[in-house]
Amino acid sequence: MTSWSNRQSSPSEEGIGAHLLPVSAYSQEGGHLVVAGVRVEDIAAEFDTPFFLYDEEHLRERCREIVAAFGRGAAFATKSFLTKAMALIAFEEGMSLDVSTGGELAVVLAAGVPATHIVFHGNNKSRVELETAVSAGVGRIVVDSFDEIERLIAIDEIGEMRISIRVNPGVEAHTHEYIMTGQEDSKFGFSLGAGVADHAIERLRAHFGERVDGVHAHIGSQIVEFEGFALEVELLAPFVERHELSEFVVGGGLGVAYCNDEVVPSLTSWAEDIRAHCARAGIASGVALGVEPGRAIVATAGMTCYRIGTIKEIVGVRTYVAVDGGMSDNPRPVLYGSGYEAFLARDIHAPRQKAVRVVGRHCESGDVIVFDGRLPVDTVVGDLLITPVTGAYGFSMASNYNRVCRPPVLFVADGEVKVVVRRETIEDLLRLEP
Ligand code: LLP
Repeated sequence: MTSWSNRQSSPSEEGIGAHLLPVSAYSQEGGHLVVAGVRVEDIAAEFDTPFFLYDEEHLRERCREIVAAFGRGAAFATKSFLTKAMALIAFEEGMSLDVSTGGELAVVLAAGVPATHIVFHGNNKSRVELETAVSAGVGRIVVDSFDEIERLIAIDEIGEMRISIRVNPGVEAHTHEYIMTGQEDSKFGFSLGAGVADHAIERLRAHFGERVDGVHAHIGSQIVEFEGFALEVELLAPFVERHELSEFVVGGGLGVAYCNDEVVPSLTSWAEDIRAHCARAGIASGVALGVEPGRAIVATAGMTCYRIGTIKEIVGVRTYVAVDGGMSDNPRPVLYGSGYEAFLARDIHAPRQKAVRVVGRHCESGDVIVFDGRLPVDTVVGDLLITPVTGAYGFSMASNYNRVCRPPVLFVADGEVKVVVRRETIEDLLRLEP
């Protein structure tokens, strides 16, 4: 079993691996990092640090890659990274959009995505959220509990909305415990065992009839070995057949490489694998198959750029390199022990012979960005430090801990930088207080 998400080491002394950078990244004149024709050092000079930088072409390529395999059956999991600009990119490139709260729904609608292309998830949707989804004309809802069924029945008139149920197949994905979702002991979905999911379908069909036509499962996130998906498909195939369902979504979860020595299968090979499992399990060719990737679409498209403010060498212990962000813009290392790489924007090929711990500016020792990072020996205060592969679950899980303002989100394409989300200000922080 391999669990990349709780690796804490980044042992490589070489420069940064090209597979950790977005497609439009390259180096110029002695190693300066350039994305889509713009030097990252120039972006820092203009916009200040820290910032999230996304390669728009990379985002679009990944969307197109999964759409080639599943068409609109490919839904972008907006929880991984959501701004209006991102929602539009996913839609323009042919994806549906998966939202799991009223907030995500509002952003996707504000972006101008037609409600018919939205799938509404969530394990505890409120009556208000359900009513909002119905009146917006959301295309599909994925029902997660008996309480939700009764809330939906109480609304009664749900327009054209189609209904899927989320089933918990009882599969343990090989990943971090906090981001496994398909095991028997889970807050998500209806258990496949003991006929619970069958009962849910029957209750829904009694009220909404043929409109109840889909099943959905999601076994976890940052998965790089596919046995779990094979098992999920095998367990759900009889359910699909028994209830004559016409849509089967296997969820998201494809992992990405975070560190130099990690290699992860592509979206295309994941898609081929899922189709092969479905064929093997006897899923009828008329059943529309779907997936819901988030991380694999956006993670590698994004990077975070910080400025080094303090270097503290504790002789015989370790060297701390402190940057102007931290757990408020990337809580993943502290939440899951996730490993990342770090390198300098001024030379992406420079050998990184110095072992360091990259930390943030928050008032606790757990505020770590890279546990076992490596940087060039000539690293100094003022250098721009990049952590690649921060495009998923960084901005979306960012906080204002220690009343730190959240960084802006910048997209770069064809030599132009666009501010997609501006930097937060102290006025923003105070706005909610009367
Ligand atoms: N569909 C459902 C129903 C989900 O719950 C999720 C993720 C996805 C799709 C997308 O999964 P992805 O393809 O991104 O793995 N904060 C954690 C990840 C939590 C994932 C939650 N659900 C992290 O930073 O690793």
